[in-house]
Amino acid sequence: MSEISCIGIATGGGDAPGLNAVIRAASKAAILKHRWKVIGIPDGFDGLIWPEKSFELTLDRVSGILPRGGTILGTTNRGNPFSYKTEENGQEVVRDISDQVIANSRKLGIDAIITIGGDGSQKIGYELFQKGLKIVGVPKTIDNDLSATEVTFGFDTALHTVSDAIDKIHTTAASHHRVMVVEVMGRDCGWIALEGGIAGGAHIILIPEIPFTVQKVCDLIAQREKEGKRFTIVAVAEGIKLPPELKQIAHGGPVGQLVGEAISLISHKEVRVSVLGHIQRGGSPSPYDRVLATRFGVAAVELVAQGEFGKMVALRAGSIVAVDVARAIGHLKAVPPDGELVRTARAVGIGFGN
Ligand code: F6P
Repeated sequence: MSEISCIGIATGGGDAPGLNAVIRAASKAAILKHRWKVIGIPDGFDGLIWPEKSFELTLDRVSGILPRGGTILGTTNRGNPFSYKTEENGQEVVRDISDQVIANSRKLGIDAIITIGGDGSQKIGYELFQKGLKIVGVPKTIDNDLSATEVTFGFDTALHTVSDAIDKIHTTAASHHRVMVVEVMGRDCGWIALEGGIAGGAHIILIPEIPFTVQKVCDLIAQREKEGKRFTIVAVAEGIKLPPELKQIAHGGPVGQLVGEAISLISHKEVRVSVLGHIQRGGSPSPYDRVLATRFGVAAVELVAQGEFGKMVALRAGSIVAVDVARAIGHLKAVPPDGELVRTARAVGIGFGN
């Protein structure tokens, strides 16, 4: 058991719906069950460079934030205390300010920190843990690409946004007999495109894990035409690996645009492209994400109470478990190209362009 009277909470990396639900759950559990003081650290570990910006998370302060998207603490996906970038005399200078960050957390009276973030933030948290800071991690990303946990909160809300968008695109696609390309997020993995595409009834899904050719995509569109289907919806993951024919015409714009242009060139169909972008990261978390975030927040507080530092909460076989952060980081969970989800999609006629 550990001697704790005050914890800090920080959110790092890109935001995800459900961050506030974790902040609320962890604060409430810490205050109500353990009578600890809770300090909110603004803008990830950057907040510990200026400790005076930190503020107490009271029950009042976290009241009403459960349904709010974003994070009341603010976040950054650039702040790394081990390679902190500043400008000195007009020049960019990179410094290791981790000692300062640890000293400032002690100045604030913080005994342990719950760090809510994706792979990058958990790695920073682990490095601070190795230097003596008591850290417990909570995984977060809309991409659902962390191998240590079956699901991350934010993913379900993103799927709602994507399937809702594809539903809307269906009606206009059908009315105009067009090919509609919808680009979605997911970084290096295709989970949002695959599950959002299945949920939205996309006809073709392109993901980084399955190599495709534009010709195959156009063949699928032509096949649909033959069957009397005069419109097609193509869900494209932002991280797709470009085949040679697309590399040749790449212009640095969104990959969805590139795919759309190539389809139009080969199929002579009218094509429109929608890049969903950051709306996938915004909005009120779904009930599933609120519940998962609440479970993670409460479980993280329990790990602190038990002195289980250097651990991260995770969802496995439906239960919340603790995993070593050291083992959790650096392993992305790619879509298995021959897995059950892809086979299910193929069984209902969805093509992958291969
Ligand atoms: O990791 C979450 C994510 O939304 C990715 O899907 C996307 O590639 C990236 O973050 C965008 O990040 P930024 O906040 O830098 O635009």
